[in-house]
Amino acid sequence: MFIKLQYSKGGNQVEFTAKKELTLLEEVESTREEFLYRFVPLDTLGDWQRTHYCNDLRFDHIGQKVCLMGWVQRRRDHGGLIFVDLRDREGITQLVFDPTYNALAHERAHGIRNEYVIAVKGIVRARPEGMINPKLETGEVEVIVDEIKLLNASRTPPFLVEDRIQVNENTRLKYRYVDLRRPLMTKNILTRHRVMQFTRKYFADRGFIEIETPVLTKSTPEGARDYLVPSRIYPGKFYSLPQSPQLFKQILMVAGFDRYMQIVKCFRDEDLRADRQPEFTQIDLELSFIREADLYKLIEDWISALFKTILNMEIPTPFRRISYEDAIALYGTDKPDLRFGMEIHDVSEIVSESGFNVFKQAIQSRGMVGCVKYEGGVKFSRKELDDLIAFAQSLGAKGLAWIKIHSSEWQSPITKFLTEGIKNALSEKLGLQPGDIIFFGADQPSLVREVLGNLRLHLAQNYLFKDRPELKNRYEFLWVTDFPLLEWSQEEKRFVAVHHPFTAPKEEEVDLLEKEPERVHSRAYDLVLNGTEIGGGSIRIHRKDIQERVFRVLGISTEEAKEKFGFLLEALEYGAPPHGGIAFGLDRLLMIMTNSTSIRDVIAFPKTQKATCPMTGAPSEPEVNQLLELCIKVEASQK
Ligand code: AMO
Ligand code: AMP
Repeated sequence: MFIKLQYSKGGNQVEFTAKKELTLLEEVESTREEFLYRFVPLDTLGDWQRTHYCNDLRFDHIGQKVCLMGWVQRRRDHGGLIFVDLRDREGITQLVFDPTYNALAHERAHGIRNEYVIAVKGIVRARPEGMINPKLETGEVEVIVDEIKLLNASRTPPFLVEDRIQVNENTRLKYRYVDLRRPLMTKNILTRHRVMQFTRKYFADRGFIEIETPVLTKSTPEGARDYLVPSRIYPGKFYSLPQSPQLFKQILMVAGFDRYMQIVKCFRDEDLRADRQPEFTQIDLELSFIREADLYKLIEDWISALFKTILNMEIPTPFRRISYEDAIALYGTDKPDLRFGMEIHDVSEIVSESGFNVFKQAIQSRGMVGCVKYEGGVKFSRKELDDLIAFAQSLGAKGLAWIKIHSSEWQSPITKFLTEGIKNALSEKLGLQPGDIIFFGADQPSLVREVLGNLRLHLAQNYLFKDRPELKNRYEFLWVTDFPLLEWSQEEKRFVAVHHPFTAPKEEEVDLLEKEPERVHSRAYDLVLNGTEIGGGSIRIHRKDIQERVFRVLGISTEEAKEKFGFLLEALEYGAPPHGGIAFGLDRLLMIMTNSTSIRDVIAFPKTQKATCPMTGAPSEPEVNQLLELCIKVEASQK
């Protein structure tokens, strides 16, 4: 083995070639500079056996001889003594190199740099009084080093291995192996592991069978575009990567497995956002012979045990429930954040008699006037109010009227329209107190609710959570139920499924399917946590006749249904039990549990917002031969 080495000696660049692999024995005698460049292959560790992780050492270990291996976080030269923070996935231990204790080890320690990989042997000792670091779990102790071995050098890392860094995310993703060494990232990935292990065992202990479903498969309709994989054996044919294992888990119920669980990759080619990835992981469940109530209980117990184990937090059960209709009316969204109130109030009736034209016109054209109250909002400056109005306008509102409730008077651009009667009625309906501000939206109901719903979140993020951080750190779970089965798609000019086409309609509304499809509700449920949909599922259709009727209402012809889901329809004819299930977005759940701002911070190797991987360079161009084999021609214009 020949390694070209460069180092600087007395200010001169020196270059030499190491001609042979250096052995452990030779290394022991080497000087500081030679030591630096002698990479000892790991298989020559000899009797070097790691005894502890860096975060293991405590007061009780004092006096023990230990051997640690890890990365150099930081080296500090304090005249005589050299301190090194040694890091591994579990944490940090301070090493001390003392020339009066071991001159050779101390001499060598001069040469090590950040992110070098080293092994040390030494004795655990108490830190001197005043040197205890309460921020470090191992802060009471340090290891005085007898022997050090360099296992590998490192180029200067592209950024510091620290939590608080200002670095572009593409660089972090390109050097993901360095990024993942940052304590917060390591912790997130370890939490992910613990959540997965806990969940697997939890459901296995309750009779769930873990079954894998195919990745090369047929399209599953979950509302996104499919990723296609060309078949070489059948030119012109493609597999789809699953958007979810939906059809397979239902078929497993027909097969009699009764309770199924899988932690599974799903693939969806959709526009990416902060909480979406093209490939993401579901905790996927399906059960036979159940009703909604059974499933709610199962999930609530799992969540509450999970949060207790991982975060040591008590989550009270049962969770709150709200119908889709109420969620939209009160919060303007089907995934309300219940860490705070600020509900939307419909005050159309109260203000209908005001002289304010904007309100009158909205009400006359079948619109509404809605409002939200923000306690303590009288403090908003003119500039802040202008920003809030601009925010509402960016969502399509024509304006955002407001009233500040001072103890002596009501201050507002629309004061002149507020009669005593209107003021009293508003006060009573909203429970107004001096110090409050109220914001109004007047327009078509869907727009008013959307704007006020978003204003509510905006006020919380920008003001409320800053004033009252204890609200931000709560976990508020909520079941959203009674979704409409179908919604009209303006784009496709047909009804589409709100969840997916296998969701059961409410028993008592099945007969409305053909006559008034928009009035049919489904047996679907979503679990929302702090305003994020972390899970969704439903009781399924288990009868072929109903499934066919739903397909018909969805405008899916018999031939198309047969072509796409014939295997499921056929399975329903062979004794399908009543069944239902749910799937959780593991990444989204973890994002919230770890307080991360991006879904990418809880995934070891995520894709960017543009669906690329800066580390591997995926997606990349295939070899011409590969395309030929697949009978695929890529047009120059598409390239
Ligand atoms: P659904 O489409 O609601 O249901 O997906 C279930 C959960 O998966 C998460 N999720 C995502 N997470 C990250 N990136 C994405 N692109 C993404 N898309 C979805 C969400 C969501 O709640 N087969 C049904 C489940 C069922 O009916 O049992 C399904 O896939 O947290
Ligand atoms: P104007 O009469 O246009 O000066 O508006 C008076 C106040 O009403 C301003 O604070 C506007 O922001 C607000 N406003 C205008 N249109 C609407 C609307 N559609 N909904 C709510 N407030 C509005």
